[in-house]
Amino acid sequence: MTGEPVTLRVNGAERPVAAVAPWTTLLTVLRDEFGLTGAKRGCNQGVCGACTVTIDGEPVRSCLSLALNCADRDIVTVEGLVPAGAPAGALAPVQQALAEGNAVQCGFCTPGILISAHALLRRNAPLTVDEVRAGLSGNLCRCSGYKKIVEAVVSASEARP
Ligand code: FES
Ligand code: FES
Repeated sequence: MTGEPVTLRVNGAERPVAAVAPWTTLLTVLRDEFGLTGAKRGCNQGVCGACTVTIDGEPVRSCLSLALNCADRDIVTVEGLVPAGAPAGALAPVQQALAEGNAVQCGFCTPGILISAHALLRRNAPLTVDEVRAGLSGNLCRCSGYKKIVEAVVSASEARP
């Protein structure tokens, strides 16, 4: 990869990249340089939400975010939802809620939905069905499993202390 060096802070760790071209997206760096393949390349044009990560706590489409603009920002991918040091197999509450609610079909949309739901759960409590629908409106599920996904996120919001 040609370009300039950059260090990205991903899931709490500083990760240097030797050379990033100005047009390289955050999604490309996450997947191809760091091996963080949780964020999916669905449409690659900002429509489907499968590539969603948070930057400074806000959900963004990593396929539309230029990697060089992400230096000195806090990036969280689905791999970072479980805190470092947690036991193997541990799930974040929102992951647990989707698993228990059978809210996953093919799973392609799931990482993006988890990130959007995680951000939503940090902002509001408890959440109504309409609030969850609005919060996840940027994440498309081609399996159309929305009902169980929304129910699981509502359930996660109600389970919080
Ligand atoms: S891959 Fe980024 S929005 Fe579809
Ligand atoms: S579970 Fe298949 S795209 Fe959502």
